[in-house]
Amino acid sequence: MLVNFKDILNEAYVNHYAIGSFNGYNYETFKGIIEAGSETKTPVILAFGAKYLKNMSLETAYAISKSLGETSETPICLHLDHCSDLDTVFRAIRAGFGSVMYDGSALPFEENVKNTKLVCDMAHACGVSVEAELGSLAAGEGSHEGMASDVEVYTQPMLAKEFADVTHVDALAVSIGTVHGLYKAKPNIRFDILETINNLLSIPLVLHGGSGVPEKDILLSTAKGIAKINVNTEISVYAVDKTTELLRSKQPHFSEVSLHQVNYVKEIVKKYISFFGQR
Ligand code: 13P
Repeated sequence: MLVNFKDILNEAYVNHYAIGSFNGYNYETFKGIIEAGSETKTPVILAFGAKYLKNMSLETAYAISKSLGETSETPICLHLDHCSDLDTVFRAIRAGFGSVMYDGSALPFEENVKNTKLVCDMAHACGVSVEAELGSLAAGEGSHEGMASDVEVYTQPMLAKEFADVTHVDALAVSIGTVHGLYKAKPNIRFDILETINNLLSIPLVLHGGSGVPEKDILLSTAKGIAKINVNTEISVYAVDKTTELLRSKQPHFSEVSLHQVNYVKEIVKKYISFFGQR
């Protein structure tokens, strides 16, 4: 069933586990993510990034997730990931997305507040949940979202408090040392900043850059308010590596390639679900 993310995130937040938010951009990724959720009986967030509008339209993303999600007994939330364009955010709400991430993190604080509040007012009136971001992440290797020029700016707890109070956002993405893409060294996550933000805000917090974060850091972060963890790069790297291996070993029919790819996506998503899941 398709849901809006507030219900599943609030439950995760209160019970100190995280819901996985996995990036999908074609039929194979959507199916792999949804099947991983169904087979593990775990809610999943299907994150369609504004970056992937070249792969499919918002309306197609909704149609596929509705068709595949309706037969699933576990909750599935179709979410718009990282979108800095207000028109696209409003179109996603109209298209049927259960949640949207308005990303105004590159804007001056006041402008980010103003735009996020506008999105929250509109989205909440339509029963749609909103994630926003404060601070910014650097990029590691192989990230499709981050750029080498991205600089790490930690989220300031007092600004986060003001931001949440004024906008009424449902979940806030924080910058605490994770990166988009694969880590070149062990991640240095600032749990002290996370704890302060969590004590001030008491709303579900979001960890971007989930690929490669060690399980023990995931556990610590969920104990301190992280209720949604985003994973993109590792799914792509694994699926591309396995597809390359498959094509080297034989020449399958194109339709078979697609079936294998659903399974590659599913394997990685299930691995992360086992790290994040309800314990
Ligand atoms: P990774 O690509 O590092 O897994 O990050 C994904 C992400 O944060 C999507 O918003």
